[in-house]
Amino acid sequence: MNIKVRYFSASGNTKKIADAIAEGLNIEAISIKDEPELKEHTDLLFLGGAPYANIMAKPLKEYALNIKKEDVDKIVLFTTSNWSRRTVRALKKIFKEKGIFVYDKYFYAHMLRIKKRIPKAKEFGKQFVD
Ligand SMILES: Cc1cc2nc3c(=O)[nH]c(=O)nc-3n(C[C@H](O)[C@H](O)[C@H](O)COP(=O)(O)O)c2cc1C
Repeated sequence: MNIKVRYFSASGNTKKIADAIAEGLNIEAISIKDEPELKEHTDLLFLGGAPYANIMAKPLKEYALNIKKEDVDKIVLFTTSNWSRRTVRALKKIFKEKGIFVYDKYFYAHMLRIKKRIPKAKEFGKQFVD
C-alpha cells in the first residue's frame, strides 16, 4: 500500500502532527514546500494544514486543486488551529468535486495542545491501513 503524509505548516504545529501520524505508520511526512506535487500514484494520502485568517494557505489550496482523481485513491485530512475546522471542510469540498474519496474522520489538534496530541496522532493513521 502506497501511503503518504503531506502537509503545509507555516509555524510548525501541523508539521508536528504530520510527523507523528507518519511515525505511527513508519513513513516520512513531507512538506508540500519540499515536494509540491505527488510523484506517484498514492493509495492513501494524509493531507493537513491550518487556517490563517479563516482560509487555508494558498500553497495548500493549490496543492489540493492540482491533485487529480487518478493520483489518489483515498484521503485522510488533519488540521491544527485556534478554533476552526474550516481547512478540513474546504479541502473536503475540493476533493468531493473531483470525485476523490475523503474519510469523514479527520485529526484535529488545537494549536496549544499539539504536544499533548502527539501520542494520539501516532495512533491515528493506523486505523486506515489494512
Ligand atoms: C496570521 C494567523 C492567522 C490565523 N487565523 C486563524 C483562524 O482564522 N482560525 C483559527 O482557528 N486559527 C487561526 N490561526 C491559528 C493557526 O491556524 C494555528 O496556529 C495553526 O496551528 C498553525 O499551524 P502551522 O504552525 O502548521 O502553520 C491563525 C494564526 C496566524 C499566525
